[in-house]
Amino acid sequence: MSVTSLRTDYAQGELDETTLLASPTAQLSRWLEEAHARGVAEPNAMTLSTASRDGAPSSRIVLLRDVSEAGLQFFTNYESRKGEEMRANPRASLLFFWPQLERQVRVEGTVEKLPEAVSAAYFASRPRGSQLGAWASKQSAVIEGRDALEASFRDIEARFGDAPIPLPPFWGGYLLVPRRFEFWQGRQSRLHDRIAYDLSGAEYTRSRLSP
Ligand SMILES: Cc1cc2nc3c(=O)[nH]c(=O)nc-3n(C[C@H](O)[C@H](O)[C@H](O)COP(=O)(O)O)c2cc1C
Repeated sequence: MSVTSLRTDYAQGELDETTLLASPTAQLSRWLEEAHARGVAEPNAMTLSTASRDGAPSSRIVLLRDVSEAGLQFFTNYESRKGEEMRANPRASLLFFWPQLERQVRVEGTVEKLPEAVSAAYFASRPRGSQLGAWASKQSAVIEGRDALEASFRDIEARFGDAPIPLPPFWGGYLLVPRRFEFWQGRQSRLHDRIAYDLSGAEYTRSRLSP
């Protein structure tokens, strides 16, 4: 396989100003539904990019857990690398790519922590194994090996026994409050459609971007 010669010509759809929804959040929800309906694996998986205080970027996948006019929610360890970066610099971006639909969505804004009650309610809805895993993992820290991680999991399991597992103090959600969205639909000859929504005052203004 040579990545130099891998090429796809996109021909599945188009973006039309007259059919795009006025709310970019509603448009994102519609595209998420369509990605799900088309059988995209984990359509709510998105790349979260953060940057350190001095502007060094880093990216990783997290799962979208809710989308509303207020913003996009995801959950993680507040003491992880991403958590540290968002504490130092609350500006972040999210990116979805659904190859089956030849679509990409970019979202940019600022992040804030969700209220603890919201994180606790979400944490309570997770499978017990995931709850134990959150307690057992000092996310992003260097560990001696797999054995140390599994031993930590067993310790936590023994500590809680059959009791309900509370929200760890170092774990919870963020809300990305968007200022900009961009919807991208692949087209033939690299003449892709790109429509951006920018928040100005309380309203979004829309513009078409050159591919
Ligand atoms: C499909 C997929 C979903 C993931 N979902 C999450 C998530 O919702 N929250 C999370 O903290 N990490 C999630 N991860 C793991 C992150 O990509 C990452 O490894 C971890 O959060 C540590 O990142 P950091 O060291 O930059 O903080 C997911 C990874 C994949 C591949």
